[in-house]
Amino acid sequence: MGGQDSNLSCLLEVRNLQKSYGTVPVLHGISLEFRKGEIVGLIGENGAGKSTLAKCINGLESITAGELLVDGKVVLHNSILLARELGIITIPQEFDLEEDLTVAENIFLGREPTNRLGLLDRKAMERQAAEYLARLDCHLPPDTLVHDLGVAEKQFVEIAKALSQDCRVMILDEPTTVLNREEVERLFQVMRNLRNQGATLIFISHKLREVREICDRVVVLRDGNLVADRPIDQWTEAEMARQMVGRELTELYPPKHIADANAEMLLEVKQLTSGKTVQDVSFSLRKGEILGFAGLVGAGRTEVAECLAGLRPIDNGNICFNRKHLNRYSPKDAVKAGISYLSEDRQGSGVLLGFSVAANTTLVSLKKYCHPFLSRREENQQTEKYIRHFNIKADSPERRLDELSGGNQQKVAIAKGLDTAPKLFIFDEPTRGIDINAKSEVYRFIHDLLERGISCILISSDLEEVLGMCPRVAVMHEGRLAGILDGDALTEENVMLLATGQNVE
Ligand SMILES: Nc1ncnc2c1ncn2[C@@H]1O[C@H](COP(=O)(O)OP(=O)(O)OP(=O)(O)O)[C@@H](O)[C@H]1O
Ligand SMILES: [Mg+2]
Repeated sequence: MGGQDSNLSCLLEVRNLQKSYGTVPVLHGISLEFRKGEIVGLIGENGAGKSTLAKCINGLESITAGELLVDGKVVLHNSILLARELGIITIPQEFDLEEDLTVAENIFLGREPTNRLGLLDRKAMERQAAEYLARLDCHLPPDTLVHDLGVAEKQFVEIAKALSQDCRVMILDEPTTVLNREEVERLFQVMRNLRNQGATLIFISHKLREVREICDRVVVLRDGNLVADRPIDQWTEAEMARQMVGRELTELYPPKHIADANAEMLLEVKQLTSGKTVQDVSFSLRKGEILGFAGLVGAGRTEVAECLAGLRPIDNGNICFNRKHLNRYSPKDAVKAGISYLSEDRQGSGVLLGFSVAANTTLVSLKKYCHPFLSRREENQQTEKYIRHFNIKADSPERRLDELSGGNQQKVAIAKGLDTAPKLFIFDEPTRGIDINAKSEVYRFIHDLLERGISCILISSDLEEVLGMCPRVAVMHEGRLAGILDGDALTEENVMLLATGQNVE
C-alpha cells in the first residue's frame, strides 16, 4: 500500500526528457517527479532551459525524446488544450494577453460564461472576473481594456486567468518580476492555498530570496541539465547561486562610484509636473553621477523617466540638460540630445521580437551604420561585441529575438540603449528577469559608464540593488518626490518610510 500511496502522490513526472530546437539541443534528458501539495522552485541561469521545460510540460512545445507522465500514465500531449484538460496551467514569462480586449474577456477567453440561450453572459463574466481578482486583493474594474494596464496589473490578470481554470499543476514562470513586495505577498498566499488544496506548483524565478521563502524543494538546471534537486532545508541563497553558475561567485556589486563634487551639472529638473502622476519634482544630476529612484510601484518613477525621454507631455516645470532647455521634445530629440531610456516594459516598447539581435541592437542607432547604405558587416561586428560582453546566449547576431530566452532578450534591450552613446542613461528595472551572474555584469557595466563620465538614473523596485549601486537615492510617493537620501541617512528603513508617505527624523 505504501508504495502505491507514494505513486499516487506523484502527480507529474518527466522521464529523460529531451528537447531540441531544430538541431540545437536545449534540454539533455531531464528526469523529475512532482508530488501533490508541493511548491517546487525551478532555477538556473538565463538560457538554462527553465521556460523550455515549462513549455514541454504544458504542451506549448513538443518533446523531442523522453516521456511525460500524469497520474502515472504516459501522455503524449503537444497541445495546450490537452494540457489544460489535465489541469496543467501556466502563467507565462511573457504576457499572453489580448491588448484590445477587456480584463474579463482576457480571463475567460475561449471559456466565456453563457446564459440559458447560449449567449455570452457579460454580467456573470465580469462578476466572476472580479471575484478571481479579489482573491489577489486586486480591484481592477473588469471592463478595463488590457491595453490601458500597467505591467503589474497585467500580471494580476494572467494570474486571475490561471486561477479561473481548474488547476492541478500550476507553472509560474517568473511571476513576481513586476510585482512589489506587498503584491508578492498576496501571490504567495494564493500559492500556499493552492498547495494546501493538493495542487503542485512549479515556481520559476531569479529572486532567490523568494524561492527560499515559498518553495518546499528546489531544482537547478544548468545548460539544459538537472544538476541539483534537494528539499528546501538543504538550501541557502548562496548555495543556489553557486549551483546555478557552477562556481563560486564574486561580490555582486562593484564599489560605489562617487562622482566628483565639482563635476559639471548635466541635468537640472525643476518643478516637473505631468498630469496627476508627476507633481512638482525637482532634482539635479552631475556628470558621471548615479541617482537611484526608489518608491512603490505606481509612485511615478517611470513617469518621470518618460518625461525625460520625451515620451510624456510636460505640463509644467522645466528640464535643463547639457546647458540646454528641453521642454517640448520628442523621443527622437531626447536620443539626439543624449538621453537613452531603457523601458521597464521590454515587450511593450523595448524590443521587436520578430527581428534579429543585430536589428534590435541598432534599432535606435541605425544611422551610425549607414554611409549612406546600411553596412550589415559593421552592424554585426558591433552586435557581436555586445553578445560577448553580456554573455548573450545567441549563436549569431542574425538570431531572431523570439528564439532567445527572456533574460537574454533583456540583455539585448540594454545593448540597444548603450549603442546610442548617451550622456544620460535611464535604467528602468534593468535587471528584471536576469540571472545573478548577468546582474553583476550589468552592475559592472553601469560602473564603467560612470567612470567614463556618463550619468545614470537607476529606477528599481529591488531596494538592495538601489542601495548597492547608488550613493544618492530619490524616493517618490504618490507622484511627488518625498525626499533625496544620501550618506548616513540612506538606509533601507528611511527609504521605506519616505516611500510610504511617512517622515524621516
Ligand atoms: N523558439 C526557439 N527557437 C530556438 N531556440 C530557442 C527557442 N526558445 C528558446 N530557445 C533557446 O533555448 C535555450 C533555453 O531557453 P529558455 O527560454 O528555456 O531559458 P530560461 O532558462 O527560461 O532562461 P531565462 O531565465 O532567461 O528566462 C536558450 O538558449 C534559447 O536561446
Ligand atoms: Mg525563461
